[in-house]
Amino acid sequence: MQISPSILSADFANLQSELDAISNADWAHVDVMDNHFVPNLTLGLPIVEALLKVSPIPLDCHLMIEDPDRWAPGYAEAGAQSVTFHVEAARDPRALARTLRAAGARAGMALKPGTPWAPHADLLPELDMVLVMTVEPGFGGQSFMADQMPKVEQVRQSVKQHGGEVWIQVDGGVSATTIEQCAEAGADVFVAGSAVYGAESATSAVDELRELAARHAH
Ligand code: DX5
Ligand code: ZN
Repeated sequence: MQISPSILSADFANLQSELDAISNADWAHVDVMDNHFVPNLTLGLPIVEALLKVSPIPLDCHLMIEDPDRWAPGYAEAGAQSVTFHVEAARDPRALARTLRAAGARAGMALKPGTPWAPHADLLPELDMVLVMTVEPGFGGQSFMADQMPKVEQVRQSVKQHGGEVWIQVDGGVSATTIEQCAEAGADVFVAGSAVYGAESATSAVDELRELAARHAH
């Protein structure tokens, strides 16, 4: 059970200390948005490179961008330990996942709420993580979509059949009140933005979320 706080809800003027505040987490989730794939603009490779130099924990880059075939490998080459692209945006997800792994990163593939799993299940051997979005990507602080839990269960089923070690991540509206159902459905990596950085202590929020998830492991 791993916790990956999203720095989208952190203070962008003080990212180094905001990363230090979650040094007890497993990953720092970095939301890259290009104003095309989603209607919001955040940060890109130069800032990720700067974060890599100071982060006490590995970076989990979630690329909400068009043309990840072209842009995602740069994040892996820069040293990002996990790089997740959206299947809806990728021209050749298989080749892209292979490129990411060859560059030394874990390869993740994300699905928007309206994107079914079954047509993409054959990509599983190429992947280290599947991200099931539990909000429409673009913004922090949205309400959790419980109707995505059957998809988490389907991915978990595929991972069992395939026999590999593929992580299942949920992202969007994950909090102390929604994390348990995610864990029960089969998720094992939990992204939380507002639930961590909106808490009085980000450090305590991370511990609390991990504890809740562990108690409800599928
Ligand atoms: C949404 C981002 C999420 C976001 C989650 O597009 O991918 O990572 O930061 O924020 P919360 O946890 O507040 O829903
Ligand atoms: Zn994200």
